[in-house]
Amino acid sequence: MVNHAKRQLLKAGSLAALALGISRPAIATTTTNTHPPISTKNNILSQRQLGHLTVSALGLGCQGLGQNMYGVPQPSRQQAVHLVQRAFDHGVRFFDTAEAYGPFESERIVGEGIKPFRNHIVLATKFGWDIDQQTGQRTGGLNSRPDHIKQVVDAMLQRLQTDRIDLLYQHRVDPNVPIEEVAGAIQDLMKQGKVLHWGLSEAGEQTIRKAHAVQPLTAVQSEYSLFFRGREKDVIPVCEELNIGFVPWSPLAMGALAGYIDENSRFEADPGKDLRGIIPRFTPEAMQHNMKLIQLVQKWAKRKLCTPAQFSLAWLMVQKPFIVPIPGTTKVHHLLDNLGADDIQLTADELTQFHQELEAIEIVGLRLPEAILNFSEAK
Ligand SMILES: NC(=O)c1ccc[n+]([C@@H]2O[C@H](COP(=O)([O-])OP(=O)(O)OC[C@H]3O[C@@H](n4cnc5c(N)ncnc54)[C@H](OP(=O)(O)O)[C@@H]3O)[C@@H](O)[C@H]2O)c1
Repeated sequence: MVNHAKRQLLKAGSLAALALGISRPAIATTTTNTHPPISTKNNILSQRQLGHLTVSALGLGCQGLGQNMYGVPQPSRQQAVHLVQRAFDHGVRFFDTAEAYGPFESERIVGEGIKPFRNHIVLATKFGWDIDQQTGQRTGGLNSRPDHIKQVVDAMLQRLQTDRIDLLYQHRVDPNVPIEEVAGAIQDLMKQGKVLHWGLSEAGEQTIRKAHAVQPLTAVQSEYSLFFRGREKDVIPVCEELNIGFVPWSPLAMGALAGYIDENSRFEADPGKDLRGIIPRFTPEAMQHNMKLIQLVQKWAKRKLCTPAQFSLAWLMVQKPFIVPIPGTTKVHHLLDNLGADDIQLTADELTQFHQELEAIEIVGLRLPEAILNFSEAK
């Protein structure tokens, strides 16, 4: 039964194929919620542990549902709600959003989408940017002051149409607020039942240790993919030591690993339309080099009879059992493609061989523009 369902998923998928939200004022509209009665059993995707929290082996990244990200038109509110609900139907029990996505619009969509099955999923969101909760205006900076966090969480609960956040991350470490104070604010919110678990995003080893000592962390979310493996030597080992889950963001390298980009791809210069237009690793010059990785992934996907996106996600998942990627998509057929990764096995021999080829490839260009990367450099 399980294998049949998975095979169907894989077949459907194979056939089908920022961190800084650049803000657009949030528009509050409503949609008709037509999700049919739900089956709460997840017999399609396997499950994984983030600390003591059980989630589906893959989550859904919901940033692109609330704002333009990578050159594709943002789906309508109704289409986005539909995607969230199809994800649930196909086994996803882990949804990732943030106040910054839109701002607010992604949270509103996720809140609307998960309403019929709220008690059967893990809902993750993030605070940390300085955003006015009434107007959506941002200063461009960070704000993890305890009073601000509490105000943001109350606004999040309204947008998400729920009474608790299962996993609340600090989006970026705020250099002006000691992490112990942030952890204290989270503890207050936990006592009130508004937050059940917490995590950090793009935090360094020292910050993780300090935060965990005050209030144990459930997950750390950082960029990780075949395109960017920078966390393998620092953050992932700390997560393993402290029993903290690791959630890779941009696990498909903003689409590059899904196989539709090559050295001739050109991105909109306006980051409000396509963030890749200002990212050094995607310039035409960098892509001349970086095509080697894309071609390697394509070769291995062919060999494994899967799609490049499935191979890339399966590779992440085989690294550690506590790794749970959250690929983002605006399309149901891409969603199905990505979920098929749960069915791909990579043997030890295959991994050794793949890594020999991988190590010979050097990725050229920074993963983000320097100005954005500065927010990620906390120790
Ligand atoms: N903590 C942080 O600071 C942070 C930063 C960035 C992102 N995130 C989280 O991580 C999630 C995922 O990251 P991401 O969206 O930046 O990057 P991603 O998941 O690596 O890639 C998303 C891109 O890949 C395309 N795509 C997805 N599946 C595909 C498939 N099977 N075939 C072809 N194309 C495919 C999507 O296009 P289509 O829409 O056309 O499918 C989109 O352009 C976000 O939604 C967000 O929740 C967190």
